[in-house]
Formats: sequence, C-alpha cells, structure tokens
Amino acid sequence: MTRALTIHQNNIHLFFQMLEENVGIALDHSKEYLVASRLAVIARANHFKDHHALIQHLLVNPIGILHHQSFQAMTTNETMFFRDKFPFDTLRTTIIPALIAKCRDTKTLSIWCAAASSGQEPYSLAILLRENFPELYYWKINFIATDISEPALKQARSGTYSETEIKRGLTDEQIKRYFKLLPNGQYEINAELRQMIRFESLNLVKDWPVMPKFDLILIRNVLIYFNAETKAKIFNKLRLQLVDDGGCLLLGSSESILYDQSFKVQQADRVSYYCKDVSKESLS
Ligand SMILES: C[S@@+](CC[C@H](N)C(=O)[O-])C[C@H]1O[C@@H](n2cnc3c(N)ncnc32)[C@H](O)[C@@H]1O
Repeated sequence: MTRALTIHQNNIHLFFQMLEENVGIALDHSKEYLVASRLAVIARANHFKDHHALIQHLLVNPIGILHHQSFQAMTTNETMFFRDKFPFDTLRTTIIPALIAKCRDTKTLSIWCAAASSGQEPYSLAILLRENFPELYYWKINFIATDISEPALKQARSGTYSETEIKRGLTDEQIKRYFKLLPNGQYEINAELRQMIRFESLNLVKDWPVMPKFDLILIRNVLIYFNAETKAKIFNKLRLQLVDDGGCLLLGSSESILYDQSFKVQQADRVSYYCKDVSKESLS
C-alpha cells in the first residue's frame, strides 16, 4: 500500500514536470486534488481504471491526443466579457486613441489577444472598437486571438455563449445590439464582429508561428501560471512581436513585468501597461 502510494506520488510529480515542460503551467502537490478530479473524467472516457492508470500511460507514451486532452484539462479557462473593466476604460480613453494617431497614415491596426480562452476578451475589444471608434470601420484591422485549448477555441470561433456567459460583463443594450438568440437558447455574436477576429491555436511556451508585428498585444491572466524563467522568455518574445514605434502590451491586473528595462511602464488611471522602449533593446 505504502509502496503503491509512493509510485503514484512519483508519477504525479513526473506528470507535473511534463505539464510544465509542455504547457508552462507550474503546479505543486497542493494541487493533486485538481489533477485527480480533472484527469478522472478523461480516464473514465478512455476506459482507464483510474487517473493513476491514465498518468502511467501518459508517462510512457509519446505525446499524443490523450496528452493534449490531459494538459488542456489542467488549464483554467475562466474569463468574462470586459473582465476587470478598468483596462478596457484605459484602452478606450488612452491606448486606442494613441494607436489611431500613430497608425493614421497606413490605416492599419494589428492586434493580438494571446491566451484568449473562449473569446470573451477579444470580442469585448471588438465591441469597444465598434462602439467608440467608428473611423476604424474603414481601416484594415488585423486581429488575431490565440489559445492552447481546442475546446475554448472552438467556442470562440462559434461566437456562441450561454445566457449566463453573456450576462457576465455585457449590458442589456450590448446583448441586444450584438447577439442573436438561437433556438437552442444560446446567444450568437453577430457575423461582423465574429469575422473581425481570427482564432488560432498557439502554445505560448513552444515555438511561435511566424506572425506580423503587432501594435497592441493583450496577454492577460495566463502568465501567473508560469515560472519566472518561462515568463522572462515570453516577455522577450513579446518584445520582438511588438512594433518598434509605440507598440503596447497589456497584462492582467495581478501581472507585471519586473526588471526588463526594454519595456517602459505607462500608467493611465488605475491601469499599468507597457510600451516597447527601443532605446533599451540591447539591455535585455
Ligand atoms: C484564465 S484564462 C484567461 C483568459 C483571458 N485572457 C482573460 O483574461 O479573461 C487563461 C487561458 O490561458 C490559456 N493557456 C494556458 N497555458 C497556455 C499556453 N501555454 N499557451 C497558450 N495559452 C495557454 C488557457 O487555455 C486559458 O484559456
């Protein structure tokens, strides 16, 4: 019995390592209950005796579909429309007006919403753009949103939400204006907003595909799950992914960039955001 426990604990430890290596999420043993309950569902659906048997299978086999399902089960997809409100106020009053002034000649704006979960965050930004900046209707907006979770991306692409989901963060007026009630009781976002955003799969801790440079990157409420080394690597890559002249980076409210002088922190109302500081590029 004791020996079995030790083997199980050792396997869970190895699974945590595998998870961190492949997804960046750093869990410790206080989260064993989470692993047990979330993997138990996948174990049952795939005819394993229990989650320990599933973990044993994952550890001895090359990375495949079951691994991805198990990793995705460990991610937290919590999100909502206009989450935290203040960053969206700052986008409206400060960041987007500055980007419009900067990009006026080309009339092109490139936006990346990374770790976008089921789409509420990029759709909130799309609604904000349409409600407050009518001139952008005639601009070219390159707007991509990415996540590692296939189920989350599937929902994001469909632009379809339950009543509970749309009531989290949207006003009645916005629901009426931008959503259609489907016969199954779900609400579908209008086609114009849906077509504004391209949803793609992207794992932040693996090689990124070739992408254009962005004027604005939102990467909110995901870096908290990563260790310091992983975060530093991601910040380096984000810096390269921002345009040199005034590219902006917006993080979650409990996240910040420490000790990286190549980003200049900006403060607007209660919100901090970061701009690429080209003069300090060689320092990092
Ligand atoms: C808590 S949600 C945040 C969603 C949204 N950004 C927000 O603030 O409301 C975190 C998201 O990060 C995604 N995620 C976790 N690890 C990731 C990785 N290595 N690469 C890309 N996305 C990841 C999860 O799938 C999840 O959808």
